[in-house]
Formats: sequence, C-alpha cells, structure tokens
Amino acid sequence: MLEVTSIRKTFHAGTVNARTALDGVSLTLDDGDFAVVIGGNGAGKSTLLNAIAGEVIADEGRIAVAGKDVTRLPTHRRAHLVSRVFQDPLAGSAGSMTIEENLALATRRGQSARLAFALTETRRALYREMLAPFGLGLENRLDHKVELLSGGQRQSLALAMAVVTLPRIILLDEHTAALDPKTAASVMQATVRAVEENRLTALMVTHNMQHAIDFGNRLIMMTDGRILFEARGEEKRGLTVEALVERFHLTDDKMLLS
Ligand SMILES: Nc1ncnc2c1ncn2[C@@H]1O[C@H](COP(=O)(O)OP(=O)(O)OP(=O)(O)O)[C@@H](O)[C@H]1O
Ligand SMILES: [Mg+2]
Repeated sequence: MLEVTSIRKTFHAGTVNARTALDGVSLTLDDGDFAVVIGGNGAGKSTLLNAIAGEVIADEGRIAVAGKDVTRLPTHRRAHLVSRVFQDPLAGSAGSMTIEENLALATRRGQSARLAFALTETRRALYREMLAPFGLGLENRLDHKVELLSGGQRQSLALAMAVVTLPRIILLDEHTAALDPKTAASVMQATVRAVEENRLTALMVTHNMQHAIDFGNRLIMMTDGRILFEARGEEKRGLTVEALVERFHLTDDKMLLS
C-alpha cells in the first residue's frame, strides 16, 4: 500500500526561479492497484515518482509504503520497497556488464533473500524463468553484455531487474516512450504480466492516452502540481481517449497523445 499525503515540493524556493512542482498531492494506492498518471509537460508527474523513490525529498507532507514512513529516507534505504523503470533504456542497467551480472546486482540492491543465497546454476535457472516470458530470447543470452541489446530488450531487462526484488511499489516513468510502437506494446504486455504475476502495486506515467485507457485500474490526471481528476474501476473502464480529450479541452500544447 502506498499513502501519499499532502506532499509539496518547490524547486529553487525563495529565488526568481522558484517552481512548485507538487502543490499538495494526496494519493492512496491499495495493494494490487495499477495506477496510470497522465498530464502535460511539467505537470509534476516525474517529481511525484521521484518523491516516492527518494530522489526528491518533499518539503511537506508524508509518504508511506507498506505502512513504513519513507518521507525522508534516501533512495537506497527504501530500495527494497520501491523500484523503478525510467524512460531512457540506457538508465536502467549497466551496459558493460552481462545480463546475469545486472540481475545479480539488482537482487543485491534490493537485499532480497529470495535469490541472494541461491547457487549459481539455480540462480541462472531463475533468471531464465524470469526473462523467458518477454519472448525476446534474453534467457539464452545471460552472459551477453547489455550494451549489445536493443532498446526494447534493454527495457525488458530493466523491468525484470525492477521486479526481481519483489518491491511493494513499482514506478514506471514513460518506460515505453523511447520504443517503437510494436516494441512498446510488447514491453507494456510484459509489464502487465510482471505486475499481475508478482502481485505488485504500480504507478505508471505515460503520454500515450491509449495506454492510459487500456491499462490499469486507476487513472490519475495531474496539472500544475495537483491531481485534477481521478477515475477508477467502472468509471475508468468507461473512459475513452475522445472523452478525456473533450472533457479536459486538451489543446496542442497540452498534447498527451503520442
Ligand atoms: N530537479 C529539478 N530542479 C528544478 N526544477 C525541477 C526539477 N525537477 C523538476 N523540476 C520542475 O518541476 C516541474 C515539474 O516537473 P516534472 O519533471 O515533475 O514534470 P512532468 O509532469 O514529469 O513533465 P514531463 O511530461 O515533461 O516529463 C517542472 O517545471 C520542472 O521544470
Ligand atoms: Mg516526466
């Protein structure tokens, strides 16, 4: 469970460059929720995810994950609870290391007991099992350097690395935005499967309105550091791209379609 209560964040406070990125955001996700966050550029979406991950420390408010107050904890102290996948395929894994070295590193980062003591071969078998569902053949390339992978393969690995520690929350910040539509669709499918199979709670930012409609059980629209609109369950299922565009008078400069 994720509880975000009235968080505020102003960058460069007290200067002419002051910019309030989060202006009192409250949000509760229940275990198993898959929430999609949409909103124009600069709405505060990444800052919200950064505050949950610990990259940004909120000025005010409280963030709790699985009942633990993490508001002021640095990233590494909450890494076992929160993991993330970024937009940039290069950001989630180390290119000069092999696939299995990256997975081993991710396992240690989350201090998961699940794999930490497994024998090498057992561990490899588990890695293969984790990678096979992506359908990219990564499971047969465990000893290959990651820099040889395509963007989609690398995002799939980043996803596997984010999931291996069984975090309580997985944060996805436009993680398919840099991929071609076909690869984006397969990484999205893999995301949904990983979230469901591991019973994770997910918060995903996207500019792709169709993805926002098609995936998740919650939809959150942000603007100017606030949550403007939320839909869940039946209401979420009833939404269409056209209805959202019309309802929020989305103009070209608030373009959310990709
Ligand atoms: N580290 C930072 N230092 C200063 N200002 C920042 C920082 N991070 C974000 N901001 C500012 O906070 C505001 C919100 O940014 P944020 O990155 O959260 O938006 P976003 O909704 O993720 O936008 P996008 O869709 O473009 O990714 C913006 O005005 C941005 O310039
Ligand atoms: Mg962003």
